[in-house]
Amino acid sequence: MTEQQILDLLSELSLEEKIGEMTQLSPDFLGAAQSVDLTGPMKELNVRPEDLPLVGTTLNAFGAEKLIAMQKKHIAEHPHHIPLIFMADVIHGRRTIFPVPLAMACSFDPALQREANAVAARESAVEGIHVTFSPMADLVRDPRWGRVMESPGEDPLLAARMTAAAVEGYQGEDLKAPDRIASCFKHFGGYGASEGGRDYNTVDISDGTLREFYLSGYKAAADAGAAMAMTSFNTIDRIPATANKKLFRRILRDEWGFEGVAITDFDATGELIAHGLAADGREAARYSLEAGVDIEMMSTHYLNNLKSLVESGEIDMALIDEAVLRILRLKNRLGLFENPFKGADPEHEDEVCLSEGHLEAARRIAVRCAVLLKNENHALPLKKDAKVGLAGPFAESAGVLGGWAFAPSNSSASLLNGLKACGIEPVLAMTEELKPMQRGFFDVSDQTAELSKLADCDVVIAAVGEHSEDTGESASKTILRLTPNQEKMLQKLKEMGKTVVAVVFSGRPLEIKPVLPYCDAVVQAWFLGLQSGAALADILCGKENPSGRLAISFPQTVGQIPVYYNHMNTGRPLVGKPHRFVSCYLDCPNEPLYPFGYGLSYSDFHYSALSVRKGSGDALLDVSVTVENASDIPGRETVQLYIRDLAASVVRPVQELKDFVQVDLAPHEKRTVSFTLTKESLSFWNNEASVFEPGEFEIMAGHSSAEVMRQKVTL
Ligand code: GLC
Repeated sequence: MTEQQILDLLSELSLEEKIGEMTQLSPDFLGAAQSVDLTGPMKELNVRPEDLPLVGTTLNAFGAEKLIAMQKKHIAEHPHHIPLIFMADVIHGRRTIFPVPLAMACSFDPALQREANAVAARESAVEGIHVTFSPMADLVRDPRWGRVMESPGEDPLLAARMTAAAVEGYQGEDLKAPDRIASCFKHFGGYGASEGGRDYNTVDISDGTLREFYLSGYKAAADAGAAMAMTSFNTIDRIPATANKKLFRRILRDEWGFEGVAITDFDATGELIAHGLAADGREAARYSLEAGVDIEMMSTHYLNNLKSLVESGEIDMALIDEAVLRILRLKNRLGLFENPFKGADPEHEDEVCLSEGHLEAARRIAVRCAVLLKNENHALPLKKDAKVGLAGPFAESAGVLGGWAFAPSNSSASLLNGLKACGIEPVLAMTEELKPMQRGFFDVSDQTAELSKLADCDVVIAAVGEHSEDTGESASKTILRLTPNQEKMLQKLKEMGKTVVAVVFSGRPLEIKPVLPYCDAVVQAWFLGLQSGAALADILCGKENPSGRLAISFPQTVGQIPVYYNHMNTGRPLVGKPHRFVSCYLDCPNEPLYPFGYGLSYSDFHYSALSVRKGSGDALLDVSVTVENASDIPGRETVQLYIRDLAASVVRPVQELKDFVQVDLAPHEKRTVSFTLTKESLSFWNNEASVFEPGEFEIMAGHSSAEVMRQKVTL
């Protein structure tokens, strides 16, 4: 349809039809069986039968036949035959499940995110899905928060690059394309700063911190053309995001020029009452609409109050028309008026999903997301003739997809299956699966007596971690250690004199310091999706050389949280050994256990010849550094560029990642990598605007935030 036709359609709609477009209900309200469990608390919604044919969008219905049938019914019953938008939580794959987003960020490769999301789009579109509630762009610094699993990590630049690539992967160049879906970035904004890492808790951060760190990923998504934005459950400046004009009108629309559709998170308009902002649903509806939120997800305060608010003159009809116009424009961008079924194709659905090509991409990408944290005594890669044992709750587990995976796993995803495919038939012991805390379980049983089965093994792979249901939404924890019987198993294996290779399955950094003495090697496996076992086995056997780098710091202990690399220096920084009257703990170092950007390789990368020269034109500085692969093993290195602005009108972080580039180096190959720093890249938010201030800078380049070469320069 043309823009004029959209405007004409808007003018023909009744107020009830307009309010229907602004309401999103789950499929069971629309006569279809729920495809998956609800993703939020079910409240009394007070929906009248005459409302249902007018609803504009639905969420988390799956299957081409089902969606075609729902669409046919809806178009037939709607007075103006306006099609539904089918939205869904396709977070890291639809049926071919990729690594969780935090693991994807550890690849430090936006191209992989783009590729994975293009696969997710193909598999979603063929089922008739039009929009995904992804990427989650919440910057995080607190692994007690279960949703770090869904996040691009603790750094603004990495978050921006991964989030932009995520949007591009889903959307491609044309939303009308049958194999593309629209992206809804979330949760705007600042949700990752929930106090105490407790989900849905208060967020109270300064405007400067919000803008300097937390907005980066959302801005990148908006700039990449994301079609929608979702509100977050938290407050900003003590005003819930779902009613926050600063977020949704001033920043998102006025400053960023975002013209997409804003949708609430699940029942977030209703939650304005619990927050203590709205006295009742009527006031909640007014607050949300005035803040510029177009669609209300799974609550009905718009449905039950907007008509009377208009009739009483408390809200202007223009606010409703503005919202409905954005929704109709989105339906038009998706081509739904011409083809309401878009890419839905029951005949080819199973052929497109889980194809060999998709599964190979999932394995290749999963390899790049694992992070080798420790490797001593030549534990890895496994020696060809080693007698291998395999123990722990994730040894045979298929529960390695990670949260928000609305797809079945199978034994092929397990580490055991991956090892067998590598020609390793391990001796098994103590492989009882962990059950989730969500359902009241807190440990595996103590079966360390079983470990005697491994007496003849040279090396034991210990597959440990947390249950995937204990990460993601509504999965906050105050204890991040492995469960006691998992720790006991590792200790027992070390006492048996085994070489111990721990493979840690988790959606967040766990507190693994207590078990490090028992482990010769540690691989952070996150939840790598359907090809998890194959990818991990290829790394353990040496077929693949690990190249992942941490997108989030690992704390020494949960008491140290928040611990992140781009912190401020304070007026009493700790230099050298801890002592009184400086900023430190009596019982724990200030440094994390493993820092941002850290990760080991089977290769050995050496840095030299850092050069920092004044540039020309837009280039303020030209930086180069030489990296050598001083080993016999080809490998991939992520060369990271950091800066520090030593004195500025607001205090600056001790380090800021300003660029990163990956190089594949043959054995003993040397490569000089070059970077450019511009005025824009050295600018910062000074509490009023983004500014560049001349002065002294420290330029750093190296293997991680803690392993860099440094040089000062004055601009
Ligand atoms: C949930 C989540 C959000 C998700 C939405 C729809 O509560 O917060 O990330 O996209 O509801 O399922």
